Amino acid sequence: MALQLTMTVAAVALAVLYAAVSARGELVTFVFGDSLTDVGNNNFLPYSLAKSNYPWYGIDYIAGIPTGRFTNGRTIGDIISSKLGIPSPPPYLSLSLDNGDMLHGVNFASGGAGILNETGSYFIEKLSLDDQISCFQKTAEAIRVKIGKVASKKLLNEALYFVGLGSNDFVNNFLQPFLLDSHMYTVDEFIGLLVNTVNGQLKRLYSLGARKVVFDGLGPMGCIPSQRVHSPDGNCLELLNEWAVQFNSRIQSLIAVLNSQLPGARFSFSNSYDIVLDLIQNPQSYGFKVSTTSCCNVDTTVGGLCLPNSKLCSNRSEYVFWDAYHPTDAANQVIADRLFSTNSFAQSPSPLALHH
Ligand SMILES: *[C@@H]1O[C@H](CO)[C@@H](O)[C@H](O)[C@H]1NC(C)=O
Ligand SMILES: *[C@@H]1O[C@H](CO)[C@@H](O)[C@H](O)[C@H]1NC(C)=O
Repeated sequence: MALQLTMTVAAVALAVLYAAVSARGELVTFVFGDSLTDVGNNNFLPYSLAKSNYPWYGIDYIAGIPTGRFTNGRTIGDIISSKLGIPSPPPYLSLSLDNGDMLHGVNFASGGAGILNETGSYFIEKLSLDDQISCFQKTAEAIRVKIGKVASKKLLNEALYFVGLGSNDFVNNFLQPFLLDSHMYTVDEFIGLLVNTVNGQLKRLYSLGARKVVFDGLGPMGCIPSQRVHSPDGNCLELLNEWAVQFNSRIQSLIAVLNSQLPGARFSFSNSYDIVLDLIQNPQSYGFKVSTTSCCNVDTTVGGLCLPNSKLCSNRSEYVFWDAYHPTDAANQVIADRLFSTNSFAQSPSPLALHH
């Protein structure tokens, strides 16, 4: 879980989105991520402890009931999909591979997941990024069986892939003193390991047909309520924010290299870091009152999720954070809006920027 805005697609991706729509008449998206983009996969994992299918999650969603989303309402991905006029892709684990459901896009995101397999091990069950790519491999095969080799290759080449993970690798792995990775690596080595792993994962996606991939960088994870409580004065943990910036910069370089190595690759990096930091530092400018603590009165010592016996704030639109990790529906709306109107992606070295 945590603050990494997986569907921070926005401006750069938009031009490609529209191009994809006009070419095929339908935009197909595949989403890989963690709790910020999970739309219900973990509900299908019986032993997973990273679940949100209980009150008060979903209280502001369509029917007011929990769906497996880790927020009170819509994820950023839901909002961006609706801006694009397409339905938010359904959770992979809710689909059957033999009817045509997966032809319209699939969401593989899983709460608690990371780039590394071992991240979030104490959640027992979740789909790590490698697992999610394996699920995509099965999906791609099912699509081939359904519509044939030529059409499936075209569909997979023209689809948009959103990949956004990494905050759990810090928050639910490296920063946990009882886990091995925190002892095995320095922070530079750990970031190197993450970036090398992403390198292999993006190449694997490419080999399965992905060409248009947007990698969403990390947000200011030192400012999420679950991390602020570790600061004596309740401020953001600057060190964690620096790690996020360092990770983002190395992923950006990786993407430039991959675009030059892989024929036809149009990978891009979307950077929501500054947008989210501004929202957290200046909540009043966006109509919010509180960004230092969560609307749901969570216990950060026991998970930081909003439990059925927790107290909610009186006005959920006044809070940037819903629980100790995840933004509210209202904050997701602001972030999605800003991502749509911003030009911050234009600095991306990716050829996607040329289409903007
Ligand atoms: C994760 O686990 C799968 C098998 O479950 C393995 O194939 C893969 O190489 C592992 N990934 C990493 C990064 O160790
Ligand atoms: C809740 O807060 C929002 C944002 O400040 C405000 O627009 C709205 O009127 C408030 N709702 C109530 C019922 O006070």
